[in-house]
Amino acid sequence: MKSYNIAVIPGDGTGPEVIKEGIKVLDAVSKRLGFTLDFHYYDFGGDRFLRTGEILPDGAVAELKKYDAIYLGAIGHPDVKPGILEKGILLRLRFELDQYINLRPVKLYPGIDCPLKDKKPEDIDFIVVRENTEGLYAGAGGVLRKGTPDEVAVQESINTRKGVERCIRFAFEYCKKRNKMNKLTLCGKTNVLTFAFDLWERTFYEVAKEYPEIKCDYAHVDAITMWFVKNPEWFDVIVTDNMFGDIITDLGAMIQGGMGIAAGGNINPHGVSMFEPIGGSAPKYTGKNVINPLAAICAGGMMLEHLGEMKSAQIIEKAVMEVTGKYLKSLSAGKMGYSTTEVGDLVVKFVTDLSLD
Ligand code: IPM
Ligand code: MN
Repeated sequence: MKSYNIAVIPGDGTGPEVIKEGIKVLDAVSKRLGFTLDFHYYDFGGDRFLRTGEILPDGAVAELKKYDAIYLGAIGHPDVKPGILEKGILLRLRFELDQYINLRPVKLYPGIDCPLKDKKPEDIDFIVVRENTEGLYAGAGGVLRKGTPDEVAVQESINTRKGVERCIRFAFEYCKKRNKMNKLTLCGKTNVLTFAFDLWERTFYEVAKEYPEIKCDYAHVDAITMWFVKNPEWFDVIVTDNMFGDIITDLGAMIQGGMGIAAGGNINPHGVSMFEPIGGSAPKYTGKNVINPLAAICAGGMMLEHLGEMKSAQIIEKAVMEVTGKYLKSLSAGKMGYSTTEVGDLVVKFVTDLSLD
């Protein structure tokens, strides 16, 4: 029997609640399709930091490298200054595990209230390939004369030919494999960021020569936020840098119905990848059994797809669509008409009962 070792980091806030439902679903689908998932839990997050003063223990990154994948809940604690845990855990893992792609599907599921008038599931189904190790997130820059009227703060965007090219290549390959519209859009800002996005644009069109079957398109980041709202059906696969990817995928999450269903994968195609709901730790809903676990469940599905368990990933998606289409009143915490655990149980029921073809 095939088996996979998965590191689980439930993390902060509602992370543990949604991960618990995700694990329930993963257990059900692996049982049904005959493979095993061995989960090993790590308590990294705000509570551990407040208790011990340690963000990530020595050797943690090396240990995580041994797993087939990492399943993460959420990082961010109301009693810890913003940035400490995000940088010390989430970003550090993305960087040190060289998860250079952040893959974020934007898909409107049946039954979900879309805030865009007259847009249907067939209109909203695209995926953003966000660069995940460079750009403004690299931490380059510094501060001078801090706290004085002459303070200077510089935050630089790092774009390497190697980093840009591997991201763009991944996007072309992904687009070809997806085989939907066979259209790849580069999202940038070539009219102002004339150093960084010149590199992106040149690399994009150079790599494009190897993919004559893919239609290439370009959109400025400000314009793309407009098109997401007006014409989301134009998009198939979008590739962009770290910062723009961060921003446009929150907008993407809203047009697919909200953070309750938005999942993402931090991918190292040659190493260990990490899958997470992208909504954060939602402290005000913590422990109330009201948060929507579907994003974590969908992240679990992405993890199985990444591990090559395609059938399982499809069943999870089908089950989620049954639940959104026939049960949930809303995707928002407290308004679903069901509790967190009940939504998990519903998905498990469909994962167990749905026909396999
Ligand atoms: C995300 C988050 C993170 C990011 C934060 C928590 C550091 O917003 O995954 O999009 O900016 O990448
Ligand atoms: Mn974000």
